[in-house]
Amino acid sequence: MTYWINNMKRMFVYNAERDFYAKHFPNVLEDESILNLRLLKRTDIDQLIEIEKQVYGFPWSEKTFRDCMKIGYSCWVMEKLDEIVAYGIVSIAAGESHVMNLCVDPKHQRKGYGRKLMKKLIAVALEERCRLILLEVRPSNETAIALYYNMGFNEIGRRKDYYPAENGREDALILATDLIHEESENEFYSLDQLLE
Ligand SMILES: CC(C)(COP(=O)(O)OP(=O)(O)OC[C@H]1O[C@@H](n2cnc3c(N)ncnc32)[C@H](O)[C@@H]1OP(=O)(O)O)[C@@H](O)C(=O)NCCC(=O)NCCS
Repeated sequence: MTYWINNMKRMFVYNAERDFYAKHFPNVLEDESILNLRLLKRTDIDQLIEIEKQVYGFPWSEKTFRDCMKIGYSCWVMEKLDEIVAYGIVSIAAGESHVMNLCVDPKHQRKGYGRKLMKKLIAVALEERCRLILLEVRPSNETAIALYYNMGFNEIGRRKDYYPAENGREDALILATDLIHEESENEFYSLDQLLE
């Protein structure tokens, strides 16, 4: 019951604030300085599912997001005046980081948010002293592949029949980027070096 009431409260506050700015200060809604990156909360999950349904043929369920939080994955949302515009999840284990999800609301794509969020996930991996950050992507997802190549990732392999697809299964490309210098096992790149 409390969960439901809090959700309703959040919706009313959110609508009132956005409506106010849209009416009186529409430019504020375009101002990138009001972007906020924060950790995912349980009450955000409904919004993420709405975005998932719009962008993926096989969207994640509420349980998948809850499990990511329960396991302790690093789960981030990017919001603009309480509207979630993007989210990203990275797991950290045994010195490797694995991007589990990176997604931008379709009405906010191509504004640089995907790149900003990916930069945050790489920063988390560096803070956790990971040697490598890797991810899977559908070979048909040219937009995401362009973003990852643009940020220094390279293809290191392929997982056969990894994803469900309309006509059966689709392979996954595995992309990765090293976070340590090849010559020196203990020397990590800085975020700027990785993204230059
Ligand atoms: C992939 C995705 C995260 C990109 O986010 P975005 O905020 O739209 O991307 P950005 O504006 O930050 O763009 C960063 C770079 O990505 C590439 N890119 C983004 N959109 C592109 C497009 N439509 N066509 C080609 N390249 C594109 C470009 O290299 C771009 O750099 P540039 O602007 O200097 O050319 C977003 O399209 C998305 O959420 N897609 C659906 C979910 C998804 O497929 N996630 C990845 C799962 S593996």
